[in-house]
Amino acid sequence: MKILGIETSCDETAAAVVEDGKNILSNVVVSQIDIFAEYGGVIPEVAARSHLEVIMPVIEKSLKDAKCTWDDIDAIAVTHAPGLLGSLLIGTLTARTLAILHDKPLYAVHHLKSHVYANWLVENEKSTSGGLQSNEGARLKSANAFPLLAMVISGGHTQILYMPAHNDFKIIGTTHDDAIGECFDKVAKILGLPYPGGPSISEAAKNGDENRYHLPHPKVEGLNFSFSGLKTAVLRAVQKELSLPISHPSHDLKNHLSAQQVADFAASFEKTAVDILLEKLKKALELHPDAKSVVFAGGVSANQRLQRATDTVFSEEYKRSAAGVQGDPKSFFEDSKTRASAPERYLQKKLLGSPLVAFPLPGLSGDNGAMVAAAAYYEIKSGVKPTDPYKLNIYPRISIEN
Ligand code: KG4
Ligand code: ZN
Repeated sequence: MKILGIETSCDETAAAVVEDGKNILSNVVVSQIDIFAEYGGVIPEVAARSHLEVIMPVIEKSLKDAKCTWDDIDAIAVTHAPGLLGSLLIGTLTARTLAILHDKPLYAVHHLKSHVYANWLVENEKSTSGGLQSNEGARLKSANAFPLLAMVISGGHTQILYMPAHNDFKIIGTTHDDAIGECFDKVAKILGLPYPGGPSISEAAKNGDENRYHLPHPKVEGLNFSFSGLKTAVLRAVQKELSLPISHPSHDLKNHLSAQQVADFAASFEKTAVDILLEKLKKALELHPDAKSVVFAGGVSANQRLQRATDTVFSEEYKRSAAGVQGDPKSFFEDSKTRASAPERYLQKKLLGSPLVAFPLPGLSGDNGAMVAAAAYYEIKSGVKPTDPYKLNIYPRISIEN
């Protein structure tokens, strides 16, 4: 089954053709980053206009790259929630029109679902270009192990989802205020680094000392998050470092910081943000020991420090467990006398088997049309019926549980 996925919820205009929920036949993304780098953030009206200008060429290119005509397309999927109102409107109106024009079933997909389903995607199996294919076995095995936990970390959301089966999501943790990606973007602005903040903070952090500035971990109950305090902590730490009063305007601080100070703040912030995420992930595994795998989703999951730290945490747990194992490793985990905590036992157990943690393949963490098509495929598999193209609505703020 070939699905055309269309994504315009924020500042990327994207379309892709995906076969059977995993095989990427084409993936076209036109980013508006260059426009918004100048402003330091997204301007909704400008985003909507830019979508309008490029959406049809983007869709046409996605069909051409996939070597498909409209006859080959079995369904159209589009992001209808959540996101910027004007941006969502352009994508959904285009998809509705095309569905009517070409007589195709239309599926409306929640954006966070799509991010999660980016973990099922692989480069076209039938292509000869190689590369990403080698990951396929591990990725699909891992991502198919239900129940799974999804760490959704994007510019607009920070949530931990419990997924007992395909297309079934329960929010078990969420942010009380800013999303983690938003926090990266705001901290980057304070440090005078370009938008989007995630990649520019990572780049600056390469030359920085992650231990130079101590930033507090917010005390938030359960699996919930708060990132606005972390942003303010960076602001105060910068003011203190520069011996400036807290009334000093944040937009001017960058003019007083040396390149080394920027690098050290970037590294200290990035380390703190990653530590907070991993702390909550461990807690989530403790509270949900039945979870068989973890997938990261959303723009921030492209973060290399996060990927390395996750690897380290999980492999250190493994080494620790292996050192304590006598005889059959499996019996160790059944041993109630072991001092290992629930998440450690869980991690140890899983690490003896197939890969447990999945990140989207490079280039698929951020917004794209392929993940929309993959999510729609599993909706169809779960019995979801197509939506009426004459009635499809948009929901800028609706939860994934609705
Ligand atoms: O998922 P996404 O593309 O759009 C939303 O649905 O929000 O996420 C965008 C966010 C931005 O805040 C951006 O700064 C962040 O993802 N981001 C990163 C990285 N790449 C993008 N954050 C940390 N490290 C990165 N490498
Ligand atoms: Zn997104």
